[in-house]
Amino acid sequence: MHAGRAVGSGGAVTATAPRRTGAVAPGHGNGMPAPRRAAIAARTLRTDRWWIQPLLVVLALVLFTIYATFRAFQNAHYFSEPYISPFYSPCITTACEGSSFPELFTGPSWISPALYVLIFPLGIRATCYYYRKAYYRSFWLSPPACAVAEPHKRYTGETRLPLLGQNIHRYALYAALVINVILFYDAVLAFRDETGAWGHMGLGTLILLANAVLLFLYSVSCHSCRHIVGGRLNNFSRHPLRYKAWMQVSRLNGRHMQLAWASLLSVVLTDVYVFLLATDTINDLRFF
Ligand code: FES
Repeated sequence: MHAGRAVGSGGAVTATAPRRTGAVAPGHGNGMPAPRRAAIAARTLRTDRWWIQPLLVVLALVLFTIYATFRAFQNAHYFSEPYISPFYSPCITTACEGSSFPELFTGPSWISPALYVLIFPLGIRATCYYYRKAYYRSFWLSPPACAVAEPHKRYTGETRLPLLGQNIHRYALYAALVINVILFYDAVLAFRDETGAWGHMGLGTLILLANAVLLFLYSVSCHSCRHIVGGRLNNFSRHPLRYKAWMQVSRLNGRHMQLAWASLLSVVLTDVYVFLLATDTINDLRFF
């Protein structure tokens, strides 16, 4: 018998057969089982609690969206010398609290400065390969989990608008890398005290720094970044530096999901810390 090809007692070829061997015909993209596949009425034969993961993803993303939307439109309590919330960085209008970044134009004070820049982090997260998998499964149930049938009748993948727009991901990554540099700049500015004197450090400094590092690792572990670093090469031995860089990025890429969640959480925690300082709810813990 051909490796990977299993024949049941009735002579039926099962789905374990490799593709393009003729043993398993592809489906028609209409949600129905492929010809010659076993017709199983049950939605899934899985007996584990496969629904927990999509449920957690829905909860986490809904909570994050509510919080981020509220903070972005709040237009207040995002700066406490020398710290700025990542939701508002870079703050580029004359309406900004503090002066952590050059003011590029005069914006109406009723428009939150966060709204000019949040498109960039939103762009990379929304088109991220990991988040796509997460929200296609959790929100669209397409499919909700491995070996669980989806409810949709048709499947067109990302071949049509609006999902065709996911192809901008590489450009979203370029923009995110620029934001990463600015967040490191914010972390450097955080080595000042509340009077603006250099050579000081507080808990906020560490929080801004950790947030910048996590967001940078999230960007560098990106699948597009991996392709930019090591893709389109026919021969790694002629490009030893790119090979080494590709190996490092590949290592991080294996942790991309964890970095996606860790960096999302760190953005929220950093913003909460700045909010608590800005509203005089707590005082910054100063180390020196
Ligand atoms: S794949 Fe997630 S940021 Fe690119």
